[in-house]
This record gives sequence, structure tokens and C-alpha cells, in this order.
Amino acid sequence: MSEETFAASWDKSKKISANLEKNPTKYTCLTGDRPTGHLHIGHYFGSIQERVRLQNLGVKTYLLIADLQVITDRQNTENVQEYVYSNVLDYLSCGIDPEKTVIFAHSAIPALNELFIPFLSLVSESELHRNPTVKAEFEASGRTLSALLLTYPIHQAADILFCKSNIVPVGRDQLPHIEITRTLARRFNERYSFIFPEPHGLLTNSPLIPGLDGRKMSKSYNNSIQLSFTEAETENIIKKAKSDSERKITFNPEKRPEISALLTTAALTSGRTEEDIAAEIADAGAGALKQFVSKNVNEYFAPIRQKRAELANDKSFISDIIEEGCKKANDIAVQTLEEVKSAMGLKY
Ligand code: TRP
Repeated sequence: MSEETFAASWDKSKKISANLEKNPTKYTCLTGDRPTGHLHIGHYFGSIQERVRLQNLGVKTYLLIADLQVITDRQNTENVQEYVYSNVLDYLSCGIDPEKTVIFAHSAIPALNELFIPFLSLVSESELHRNPTVKAEFEASGRTLSALLLTYPIHQAADILFCKSNIVPVGRDQLPHIEITRTLARRFNERYSFIFPEPHGLLTNSPLIPGLDGRKMSKSYNNSIQLSFTEAETENIIKKAKSDSERKITFNPEKRPEISALLTTAALTSGRTEEDIAAEIADAGAGALKQFVSKNVNEYFAPIRQKRAELANDKSFISDIIEEGCKKANDIAVQTLEEVKSAMGLKY
């Protein structure tokens, strides 16, 4: 994506952000996660907090568990069920309210998936091959390009458009998908009749919280603090985090990524700045810093984890929430598909 397009998206996103607070009911928001692992504190600061904020502003919000997207770049659905339950527990304990947010899995919504077929006709193969996110994910997967990986931006457009959502909170890397969704909506509306809004990405200022080793937080690097960790597990992973040979603690993400990642984690959970914390710990070294990080992470997440433990006692409660959400999403999807079929003259 060019800097120019990015600047335009950023500009639009800022305008929407300002308007959201005044006219929340004009907006429908869809966000989603692939259930490929347990959620960690990066998800919390990066996206969950923003979802809770939008929900509480009164924006109609949909939270998608993108279970069919798990098989875009892997060959099986191992552990998906476990991750779905775990992720929903995390959402609820972090403040997602199922009365305000529709939590659903797209595998349970046939009409959403059916939209994929007419949408496939609106995009060319070369447009898909040019999509930078598809390219990057294909290269990272080390496999041959599956038809689902190539076309998943179109499936994702069905996720966004089935509920006529007009805002999608995203990171910069997902912007190409929003562009394709807009193109699809426009082409459908021009070719048949006006049904779909052209959604905008809502770019947030949420900090990108690095993993404990300074690299991107990722399950495969074992460098993330999961929301579902106990206090002891949290202390343990922080204790094992790499530091460097310099004793004095300073904040320098370029030269000292590991120490700086610990400082950022401490800053987010204590409400202080990295520099301030570094100055306080200074010559006490990495051991003292790690204790500080553990204490603050555990304190910050204590109420969330307590709620999580209470909710985890009742597995049927979580499945009821998912079932309810799927029912609501299904009603909307059926309605949209009916409109689409009418517009296309496919009613007999
Ligand atoms: N691709 C997103 C991810 O990897 C998940 C997702 C699926 C999504 N469908 C979506 C996000 C629709 C936003 C809108 O995290």
C-alpha cells in the first residue's frame, strides 16, 4: 500500500473516530480473530480494549470468530474448538458484553458463506495475486498457494458485508483487505443494485506491544503473556525472558529490544512511561525490572483473570453465548442474502 493511500485512510479514520462519539448509532462495526491460539496481552491492548470502547459507545458491534480462516495457511483444525472457548472466555472477562456485541463463528452462518460465491465473480485473479497480505502470508506459510488462501480476502469481505458493517478496526497490514471489500461492495452495487456500504478501516493508536524478546508477539515464539496464564505462569515466562549484558536499565527499542519490551509491558500495565520506570530501576538491573513487570502485569490483569476463572466453571454458559450470537448473526445474513438474490434476479 502506497504512503498516499495510507495517509488517505488515516485521515478518513480520524474523521470517523471523531464522529463516532457524536453519532455512534450510525455505525456498525465488525472485527474478528482467527482462533489459532490463546489470546495474549498484545490482543488486549491492541484490539480488545478498542472493541469494548466501541461497544460501550453504543456502536452496533459484531465479533467474529474466523474459524474457517484457520485453514487458509494450515492444513488442519487442530485445537480450534479449545481456542474458540478460550478466546470467548477472554472476550467476556475483558468486558465484551454479549448483550451489546454479537459473538459468532462464521462456520455457523451458511448465508454468510453463500455470499462468497457471487463475490468471487467480482474480483479478478490478478487482483488477488497482487494483494500484499496474501503474498506475505503465502510466503510465510512455506506451502503451495491454496485456493482458499488466494481468495480469503473475498471471504473476509463477506464477513464484513453480511452485516453491512461500515467500520472495521484494523492494523495497517489489514488495510488491503478493506480496499478489496470496498471494491467488491462498489462493483456489486453498480452491477446489481445498491445493497452494501463501502466500509472504512478504523486505524487505532493502540500501541504495538512487542513480545518479551522484543520480536513480534507470537505464539510460535513463546514470547507472549497469555490472558489465561496464572500469576505463577506469568512470573515464570517473565523470569525466563532474555535480557542483555548491560546492567543499567535504559529504554532503547533499537539497541536493547529485550529490555525495552519489558519496559513497554511495565509501562502499559502501570500507566507510567518507559523512561520513568527505567530511571527508577536503573542499576538494580534486569532482575529487579522483571519483578516490577510481573507485579504490574499480575495486578493489572487480576480482576480480568478472576472473572475468567468464574466464567470458566460453566462451559455451557460459553456455548450458550456462542449459540445466541450465531442465531443473531444468522438472521442478519439470511436477510442480506435474500436482498442479494433479489437484486440478482435469482428468486423463483
Ligand atoms: N484476517 C483476520 C486476522 O487474521 C481475521 C478476520 C477474518 C477478520 N475476517 C475478518 C478481521 C473480517 C476483520 C474483519 O486476524
